[in-house]
Amino acid sequence: MSAVAAVPIRKAGSFDLARIREDFPILRMKARGHDLVYLDNAATSQKPQAVIDAIVQYYESGNANIHRGVHYLSEKATEEFEVGRRAVQRFINAAHVKEIVFVRGTTEAINLAAQTFGRTQVGAGDEVLVTAMEHHSNIVPWQMICQEKGAKLRVAPINDQGELLLDEFEQLLGPRTKLAAIGHVSNALGTVNPVKRMIAMAHARGVPVLVDGAQAAPHMQIDVQDLDCEFYALSGHKMYGPTGIGVLYGKAALLEAMPPYQGGGDMIRSVTWEKTIYNSIPYKFEAGTPDMAGVAGLKAAIEYMNGIGVEQIGAHEHDLLEYATRVVGSLPGVRLVGTAAEKAGVLSFVLEDVHPHDIGTILDQQGIAVRTGHHCAQPVMDRFGIPATVRASFAVYNTRAEVDALARGIGRVLEVFG
Ligand code: ALA
Repeated sequence: MSAVAAVPIRKAGSFDLARIREDFPILRMKARGHDLVYLDNAATSQKPQAVIDAIVQYYESGNANIHRGVHYLSEKATEEFEVGRRAVQRFINAAHVKEIVFVRGTTEAINLAAQTFGRTQVGAGDEVLVTAMEHHSNIVPWQMICQEKGAKLRVAPINDQGELLLDEFEQLLGPRTKLAAIGHVSNALGTVNPVKRMIAMAHARGVPVLVDGAQAAPHMQIDVQDLDCEFYALSGHKMYGPTGIGVLYGKAALLEAMPPYQGGGDMIRSVTWEKTIYNSIPYKFEAGTPDMAGVAGLKAAIEYMNGIGVEQIGAHEHDLLEYATRVVGSLPGVRLVGTAAEKAGVLSFVLEDVHPHDIGTILDQQGIAVRTGHHCAQPVMDRFGIPATVRASFAVYNTRAEVDALARGIGRVLEVFG
């Protein structure tokens, strides 16, 4: 049974960009009188009609609270929710469906891990290791736990290209390291970290690893068993799904040993005044009514990505990134920030003597949406000695013509600022 419309399956191998663009209604709109050029995908991607339809259909014909009712609609909603969980399991190749915990997004996933695993495992004098390219979601939750416990947050440095210094990362994995929390792809620089190698390095020293996959899951095939990470966090809204839904993957044995995150309905087996017995995983971590419509949308997003082929999506974005690096990188006064050998979907740059916000405003006047600022990664900006960058970030529906529009837009900025 299905409350979600069947998503037209596109044969992997037939990459049809014009047709893909038609799947996204918002791309037809005008922004400030110009065709919208949406290059802010690392902040959030746009949604294909299939995802929008799945959410509408959930409310039209599938809405009821889950895990609670004996009635038809509740059973149907429960089944759909669990089908969505299985879709995520397959998408990231988790060994067990119970290893998929639904949360609001990457930020909540990491906070969950910090407040449960972190709170029980990290003690005074211990260490949590992150990298110098993390965004705030993978810094602040660990800072909070370290502060509370009297532990130390260690930071593995990066080079001027924005690549992690692997030897230093390895050396920082010490006897007191209780966890390494590492970004798969940097949101501000686009660097793809060699996470499989980093996880092997950490495991060789008995250190578990959380991977922040917010910027990776939209662009590449994730296989948590192959990576062998203990935790993997992702957000639905960056991978064509709705806002407010995300995933924390955790190895079953760890999730089972962790205390609950929030208390409430659904995360319990029984409650008396004397004692509460918690539910089994993953429900132990899903207190309260979850985002059923969000899961329906996320499932549709996964089907949409699979329909195109995740590798094809990544390859197209890589082509755009290479093209943009060439075209934008050669404009006078442009300095690219983040020039790692391995990158995904992000072009960050600054322009001599022009503040990124001014660049963003002039681009906006031409219908071009980029993000300007510190990208929730202030320590990365500090590392490069700049307050902010302009960031163009790509998705499956972007085109080389849009990169050309960006370059023309920057040309306009250069005219304005002489
Ligand atoms: N972390 C998101 C970004 O990179 C919000 O824009």
